[in-house]
Amino acid sequence: MKHLQQRKNSFPGSTYGEIKEEGVKKLIEFFNEYFDNSDGVFYDLGSGKGKLSKQIAETTNFSKVVGYELHKERYLESLELLKESKLTNISFINKDFTTQDLSDATVILCSNEAMPREVTAKVLAKAPKGCLIILGRKPNLKWMQENPGIKFKYSPRILKTYSPNRGNWYLVKE
Ligand SMILES: C[S@@+](CC[C@H](N)C(=O)[O-])C[C@H]1O[C@@H](n2cnc3c(N)ncnc32)[C@H](O)[C@@H]1O
Repeated sequence: MKHLQQRKNSFPGSTYGEIKEEGVKKLIEFFNEYFDNSDGVFYDLGSGKGKLSKQIAETTNFSKVVGYELHKERYLESLELLKESKLTNISFINKDFTTQDLSDATVILCSNEAMPREVTAKVLAKAPKGCLIILGRKPNLKWMQENPGIKFKYSPRILKTYSPNRGNWYLVKE
């Protein structure tokens, strides 16, 4: 069963993809009520090379934009992006987001398509009430069965490097 064993240096999310600029614009437009909030705090959980977070910090009024990225090289690329920038409302942190405090979040985005399913349950547990949570895929069936009252909605198509026609799942935590 060698092919099922964890490869050396393998990493959750070692296959990389991201939401494209046009897709980020669509997110901002579709979730306008949540993104147009100068008291808002945005978390990109798994911020990759940082383009999405930077675009959001540049084109919305969030008071704080934070990207957590575990992969060292991607994190360093995201710091490069900020070198020439005058943005003061954004930071990138090279840590596992599942261990971080998210209690001030008003919007959480987690492109979790390539992440282990249990990660999503942790994000949902950590998010504060009233927070908009946007996911690439829903939690696993077990979580859905344990939380029958919680219904996700599906957004219009959000353009991604790995898919031209998938939307995102979202809910506001009650
Ligand atoms: C699909 S990329 C998303 C990039 C960007 N957020 C977007 O949506 O366009 C997901 C990233 O999550 C990172 N990641 C996966 N698990 C993580 C964890 N527990 N903590 C921090 N980063 C993680 C991966 O390294 C990968 O770069």
